[in-house]
Amino acid sequence: EKGGYDHFMLKEIYEQPNVIKDTYRGRLHSNEGIIQMAGVEDHLEKFLHADRIIIVACGTSWHAGLVAEYVFEEFTRIPVEVEYASEFRYRNPIISSKDVVIAISQSGETADTMAAIKLAKEHGAFVFGVCNVVGSSISRESHAGAYTHAGPEIGVASTKAFTTQITVLTMIALRLAKAKGTLSNSDFHMYLQELEIIPEKVKEALETAVTTKKIATTFKDAHNCLYLGRGYNFPVALEGALKLKEISYIHAEGYPAAEMKHGPIALIDEQMPVIVIAPKQGHYDKIVSNIQEIKSRSGRIIAVVTKGDTQVRELADYVIEVPETSDALSPLITTIPLQLLSYYIAVFRGCNVDQPRNLAKSVTVE
Ligand code: M6R
Repeated sequence: EKGGYDHFMLKEIYEQPNVIKDTYRGRLHSNEGIIQMAGVEDHLEKFLHADRIIIVACGTSWHAGLVAEYVFEEFTRIPVEVEYASEFRYRNPIISSKDVVIAISQSGETADTMAAIKLAKEHGAFVFGVCNVVGSSISRESHAGAYTHAGPEIGVASTKAFTTQITVLTMIALRLAKAKGTLSNSDFHMYLQELEIIPEKVKEALETAVTTKKIATTFKDAHNCLYLGRGYNFPVALEGALKLKEISYIHAEGYPAAEMKHGPIALIDEQMPVIVIAPKQGHYDKIVSNIQEIKSRSGRIIAVVTKGDTQVRELADYVIEVPETSDALSPLITTIPLQLLSYYIAVFRGCNVDQPRNLAKSVTVE
């Protein structure tokens, strides 16, 4: 049932090229320049007239929501807020019938996310669900939705759910951008084409398993770990840190790289592995100077870079090369080596990868 893999998590990591394709199949038609998702088409006006979009989710799904915030605002210029479902539901949020709430949940059974949806509905908001499990409670409670087609995710650490959630959310943003005219025609087409070839690039990114495995042997006994990223890759840093915590029990934190100087840089010494997500697109020069700051304090740098990178290579102790893509789509690629890194570290530490201690696959309690 693990299809020859040692763990479900590894199997699910390797399924990503296929499930991303399954998720956009029939919805993304790059030659025609069309994105079609029934749940969005049927309620297009709701989205287009929304004062803002509020995304509610927990854990990894919340990280996908953060990526979506950057993508939606960039592509559609609709203001987006991303909330932990557990905080949203208990804080008497301001919400009205002009809000669109997007709830993201792999299982579709997360109690806090479910409660957030109910609250949003009471206030008259339109609720759109992005779930993986067909017929799940959240998918039924939402007014409309779009499924991710990741297939069953068994490993407690979410991997393929994350990348397929980003795929769905990016398609929604593109569809709305087209309707609103907030993206140029050429950019719109470029993103469609780029999204279509993402599975091939994810496949290539999976080849980093060889390098990440080596890096994992070096760092398996670390007590702490920092993950840094900027822009679209800031949520990827958070997700990388969550993945490491969950399955290897190493304390890890994700930060926007520029926040280092406001505190966390005090943690840096020769014992501290710092994983920096530094693809060529985006804020490359800025992140290079962040890397320099870490290096001058003797931190050990593991950098995720674009193939052919030379500048970061000179500074970093280890580099992991991934294929180039546009900035907005880069989380789909840069997250892959981080999943593999946590996986191998957990395996080398002898941890129960698929069923980490204290965790359940779906959190149906408050
Ligand atoms: O099923 P959901 O997407 O609603 O689950 C949300 C979180 O419980 C989940 O993402 C959790 O953080 C994972 N274990 C992360 O790997």
